Amino acid sequence: MSIHFFFFFSVLFLLNINSVYSQQTGSDLDPEQECTGKWIHIRKLPSRFNLDLLLNCSDYPLYEDFCPYLANHGLGHKTHNRSHSWYRTDPYMLELIFHRRILEYPCLTSNPIQANAIYLPYYAAIDAFRYFYGADYNSSAQHGLHLYNFLQQDNSYIWNRNFGHDHFLVMARPAWDFSQPLGNDPPLWGTSFLQVPEFYNVTALTLEARPWPWQEQAIPYPTSFHPPSIALLENWIERVRRGHRTTFMLFAGGGGLGSSPNIRRSIRDECENTTIISNRFIGSSFTDVCRIVDCSNGVCEHDPYRYMRPMLHASFCLQPPGDTPTRRSTFDAILAGCIPVFFEESSAQTQFGWHLPEDQYEEFSVFIPKEEVVSKGLQIIDVLLGIPKAQVRRMREKVIELMPRVVYRRHGGSMEWRGVKDAFDLAVEGTIDRIKSRVATRNSS
Ligand SMILES: *[C@@H]1O[C@H](CO)[C@@H](O)[C@H](O)[C@H]1NC(C)=O
Ligand SMILES: *[C@@H]1O[C@H](CO)[C@@H](O)[C@H](O)[C@H]1NC(C)=O
Ligand SMILES: *[C@@H]1O[C@H](CO)[C@@H](O)[C@H](O)[C@H]1NC(C)=O
Ligand SMILES: *[C@@H]1O[C@H](CO)[C@@H](O)[C@H](O)[C@H]1NC(C)=O
Ligand SMILES: *[C@@H]1O[C@H](CO)[C@@H](O)[C@H](O)[C@H]1NC(C)=O
Repeated sequence: MSIHFFFFFSVLFLLNINSVYSQQTGSDLDPEQECTGKWIHIRKLPSRFNLDLLLNCSDYPLYEDFCPYLANHGLGHKTHNRSHSWYRTDPYMLELIFHRRILEYPCLTSNPIQANAIYLPYYAAIDAFRYFYGADYNSSAQHGLHLYNFLQQDNSYIWNRNFGHDHFLVMARPAWDFSQPLGNDPPLWGTSFLQVPEFYNVTALTLEARPWPWQEQAIPYPTSFHPPSIALLENWIERVRRGHRTTFMLFAGGGGLGSSPNIRRSIRDECENTTIISNRFIGSSFTDVCRIVDCSNGVCEHDPYRYMRPMLHASFCLQPPGDTPTRRSTFDAILAGCIPVFFEESSAQTQFGWHLPEDQYEEFSVFIPKEEVVSKGLQIIDVLLGIPKAQVRRMREKVIELMPRVVYRRHGGSMEWRGVKDAFDLAVEGTIDRIKSRVATRNSS
């Protein structure tokens, strides 16, 4: 167990809510006014719901040892010692990242009655490992029920005030992983957390939502970039703007190697055949028409240099669906100023509405229905070459404008960031609005 783990422990306990809160009230802002309608209470949970789960980080040989990713409150280790902003971040650690950040939220209250929303610091996806890969494999319908029982037994008035409609938590995986129908034990895959009536009223922040409206909302996958200051964010943005884009289109990922037709396969075929069409690029600044960064077998996952460098030099980044429609790579691309190309609406447009406004997709991304490519032979490159250069420039500017919204900045230094909303800030804002309307609907019905 690394020293980071103990550091994590001590900081959570030393940096208790009250001290963060009093720091904030020491500012020139009037918290009563600024926080009206935005108060959050962090529910006190026994450590078996969060920190204890981290002790078992090496217990799942079918997955992998995820102990290294716990460092720096879930950001992972720095990519190298002198890096300020880049980490080997595992997106499934978002529960830790979120927990650490919420301790700096300026409108925390220790009084649940005053709160507009109640945060449950339960590491749901990490707890799910024992159902996915461990001894509880055949009890997937039990996931979360121990939490529900606790909430019923301990200060139950907090739950009962709004029957859980004002409660929220983070579940750092696609909702699909928690949507196993009840009674399917042993399950095909996943747990039933989002299927049990006990949690219907709770808002779950997931990395991907199901296609029909339900209790979850998707928020961005964490990337590896966590700038500790606005200056470092701005430096990066400058670098992205200056980058020479010598690759026309890029796909960073795996898959598509089998013989069955699918969008990844089509992308590979088209990419491998680009020598045939490269005469269309004579006289342009592109030296590479299409590039594939091979990320098979998870080799890219904790090594951002493998794909960030190529993405910084690419104009368009292809975002085909894989096992599920969304990909972390979409957010890596935005970070690199590489215009995302989607093949399904559920890859982003119908998912991340709090962070990437649904009605602005045409301004920063390209949409090519996958059926057109896979079964009708439409060439991706033809669509992308048809976009006028001036429009491509405007799209890139829009990507850059949206970038801060999908970054999870490093914890610490919150005062400096006032006014700049990152992915965490927007997730909290969206949650509070959503809970407000849920509670209002409940009270009026
Ligand atoms: C950690 O693993 C041990 C051994 O499998 C188990 O007894 C314990 O309950 C686990 N702890 C948590 C918090 O899941
Ligand atoms: C980086 O830091 C780690 C521990 O903090 C240390 O063990 C390692 O030697 C350092 N590497 C370099 C190249 O300085
Ligand atoms: C789950 O149940 C199946 C039979 O239904 C059994 O073969 C398997 O060993 C069980 N797994 C665990 C982890 O208990
Ligand atoms: C969810 O809310 C409804 C009312 O909106 C209530 O009847 C139900 O009991 C609540 N569920 C739980 C588990 O509290
Ligand atoms: C790529 O080229 C090969 C041979 O040159 C051809 O068989 C194949 O159909 C081409 N694929 C596409 C998608 O054009």
